[in-house]
Amino acid sequence: MKLGIAADHGGYELKTIIHKLLTSLGHEVKDFGAFSLDDKDDYPDFVVPLARAVAGQEVERGIAVCGSGVGASVVANKIPGARAALITDHFSAHQGVEDDDLNIICLGGRITGVMVAQELVQAFLDAKFSQAERHLRRLHKVIALEK
Ligand code: RB5
Repeated sequence: MKLGIAADHGGYELKTIIHKLLTSLGHEVKDFGAFSLDDKDDYPDFVVPLARAVAGQEVERGIAVCGSGVGASVVANKIPGARAALITDHFSAHQGVEDDDLNIICLGGRITGVMVAQELVQAFLDAKFSQAERHLRRLHKVIALEK
């Protein structure tokens, strides 16, 4: 899969680990930064370009990491076509894709441990949107709000 990844200083360490995991699994990864640890950087500067790339189908899905995952999800959802959520549990990691066509997983680098984060990303990537009529109906209602 062609994937995008982004993080601010709060998610920088976890991004580095997830990036390596994705590459080792054979995914093509476009990194939207940050490219060094800078306590003064701001998550919108990295997450917005990632969300635009996901919405524009330059990459298939995105992984956004900040300290809590909250700011990343808030800003990513400002971009039409981006469907981002802060994920902390395995069920939501796959159900968010299956039912809601989630295309960006947001993680808290200061909240979620490395092994759990890796499992969440794996569950997110393994999942596919169900295309069920009721889920398509709900998705179209969400998309209508962006117009
Ligand atoms: C940065 O210190 C921190 O506020 C940010 O990474 C994130 O947690 C925001 O939601």
